[in-house]
Amino acid sequence: MPTIGHLDPAFGALMEGLAARLRTLFGVSNRATLAVSGTGSAGMEAMVANFVWPGERVVVGVCGLFGARMADALSRAGAEVEVVSGEWGRSLDVGRLSSALRPGDAALFVVHGETSTGVVQGLDGLASACDSAGALLMIDCVTSLGGAPLDMSGVDVAFSGSQKCLNCPPGLAPFTASDRAMDRLFARTEPCRSWYLDLRAILSYWRSDGEGVPPRAYHHTAPINMLYALDCAAALVLDEGLHLRWERHSVAHSALRSALAEFGFERLAPEAEALAPLLCVRVPAAIAADEAAVRRALLLDFGIEVSGGLGPLAGQVWRVGVMGEGARIEPQRRLVSALAELLPGGGAARAAALDALEAGWTAWTAWTASASASA
Ligand SMILES: Cc1ncc(COP(=O)(O)O)c(C=O)c1O
Repeated sequence: MPTIGHLDPAFGALMEGLAARLRTLFGVSNRATLAVSGTGSAGMEAMVANFVWPGERVVVGVCGLFGARMADALSRAGAEVEVVSGEWGRSLDVGRLSSALRPGDAALFVVHGETSTGVVQGLDGLASACDSAGALLMIDCVTSLGGAPLDMSGVDVAFSGSQKCLNCPPGLAPFTASDRAMDRLFARTEPCRSWYLDLRAILSYWRSDGEGVPPRAYHHTAPINMLYALDCAAALVLDEGLHLRWERHSVAHSALRSALAEFGFERLAPEAEALAPLLCVRVPAAIAADEAAVRRALLLDFGIEVSGGLGPLAGQVWRVGVMGEGARIEPQRRLVSALAELLPGGGAARAAALDALEAGWTAWTAWTASASASA
């Protein structure tokens, strides 16, 4: 599509449509819903710069790389950071997070889908704890939006990334903030410390030209072509149906988990805490000394990228993306066949692994067939 001007009325209409789709994806009616220019980390910086001021106290859950990254970003911004830490590979206890809050705290932050461990963080109970403390509930849903169930009730601010479960190129951070969070922001008299990520200014560009609303005003040049892409990606997600898509990711995760178990890979997270879009498995002893070489061969010889462990899990786990179009049987068949060739004793496990994979997806085919019959 042509790269039209960012104030062109046709582009304004596209932004309106995209904002509406993002609201549906997040499951919110928040007016302040937009795509921040930049990758997921720009969404994180926008959250910090607009909703936490120097000297304010924030409780941060850390049981993986991305919680630690947020704690770092907040302390660089001058916040008083209270870390509630937990084992990498488990979610955090909601009671521990809640009881770390003190009245007057600015916010509580958790990573909903921790990509470094493949763990989903339960949110139940956090909103009421935040309410009692007067704090905002803020989440990172980079690896869950569009791929895993997300209940935004009581969540004040959330950011995601275009490139994970939304299956779009990287470069935009879907972002939403509740009216309560925005009221607090508009009540601040100090300017936002980031010029580029100043939501009050950016919203004067994103808000519609509806009755009583001033016309869109230039803030920075919108990444026009990326916004086309995200709009298209969001439309595809919603065409599939959010709930069906969550279910597809869940089936893909379970099927691949069963297949990889035949080669000796065991999932790190317990069943109830597993994040469907990211399967994190322990590396079997047979390749423990050389796991990076196997991943390199997967990439160079088979064109399949599997990520290694991060932080304390480096060398111990593999992280397999099960997101977007990656959550389909075809790429999983390719991975299983490649592992059968590369792993010691892999050939012997090949048939059982492929059977486990097919069995996982057979259940899905039956389920979708009955769902469409009853529809
Ligand atoms: C959970 C989580 N948060 C934040 C980020 C940062 O996003 P980006 O790399 O798009 O800046 C990532 C990236 O993988 C992530 O997985």
